[in-house]
Amino acid sequence: MRIFAPLNPPLPAWRDAKVWVIGASTGIGAATARRLLDLGAKVALSARSEDKLREVAAGSSNAIVLPLDFTRTPAVTQAWETLRAAWGVVDVVLIVAGTHQEMRAWELNEPDSRALLEVNLHGPVNTTGVVVPGLLAQGRGAIGIVASVAGYRGLPKALVYGASKAALVNFTETLYIDLHPKNIGVYLVMPGFVRTPLTDRNEFAMPNLISADEAAEAIVAGLRAGDFEIHFPRAFTRKLKLLRLLPYRAYFFLIRKITGL
Ligand SMILES: NC(=O)c1ccc[n+]([C@@H]2O[C@H](COP(=O)([O-])OP(=O)(O)OC[C@H]3O[C@@H](n4cnc5c(N)ncnc54)[C@H](OP(=O)(O)O)[C@@H]3O)[C@@H](O)[C@H]2O)c1
Repeated sequence: MRIFAPLNPPLPAWRDAKVWVIGASTGIGAATARRLLDLGAKVALSARSEDKLREVAAGSSNAIVLPLDFTRTPAVTQAWETLRAAWGVVDVVLIVAGTHQEMRAWELNEPDSRALLEVNLHGPVNTTGVVVPGLLAQGRGAIGIVASVAGYRGLPKALVYGASKAALVNFTETLYIDLHPKNIGVYLVMPGFVRTPLTDRNEFAMPNLISADEAAEAIVAGLRAGDFEIHFPRAFTRKLKLLRLLPYRAYFFLIRKITGL
């Protein structure tokens, strides 16, 4: 039983819902799109790789494939207009797309940091800017933004990635403050380690690693529950939330001890 009311307005039953998943070609986005299609939702799938999007859509009559680069405003605008013309109302815009690159202070360089910020920060911010006027005009609907637990606090090897995700956390919180009074839902998705093409590159041991299907299940359940923050797996995110409360001296000591870095 819940003590408090959900922070977001309720969504329609999945069989009546229309969801745009951006970053749906692989990993968490692909698994979430598949899960939503299984549940009977209408799903629009976007990312740059059209062939992979078509594989995820698997010929479903409920799927629309809209390939795009979400850092390019005209492409996002065009896809959004296409969707609104096809569906009328869009219930959820789920921005999953992102990239990752390990970086330490002595590896910091402009091309890599710009490329990371372009995808991880400008992409979601730009896409949000495109869809908000339409959501406000509808008078309902929701935006979900996938950040990362790397946005909670500074972590070794996550010099620019972590900063991009911390910025997204702040952005999404502020979005909630603005849009909640207007009946628009805002969701912040905070994954721990999920096995995807992105993390297959990691050479370190990833604690509490889960599958993309498990992540999709947590996202779908979190959307249904109306939570603002959808964080998973809980066994991992709870520990990180505790670390977030520590004063800097204790945090820096512990994170060095835990990671050995
Ligand atoms: N896996 C984890 O452990 C983990 C943990 C925390 C947070 N996250 C976050 O979860 C999100 C999904 O990650 P993932 O692990 O599922 O990675 P992934 O399998 O590499 O998926 C990334 C998705 O983003 C799309 N994408 C990348 N750049 C794009 C662009 N410019 N325009 C449109 N789409 C673009 C990719 O498609 P195309 O290449 O076809 O464009 C792909 O569909 C990311 O935001 C990531 O930071 C992941």
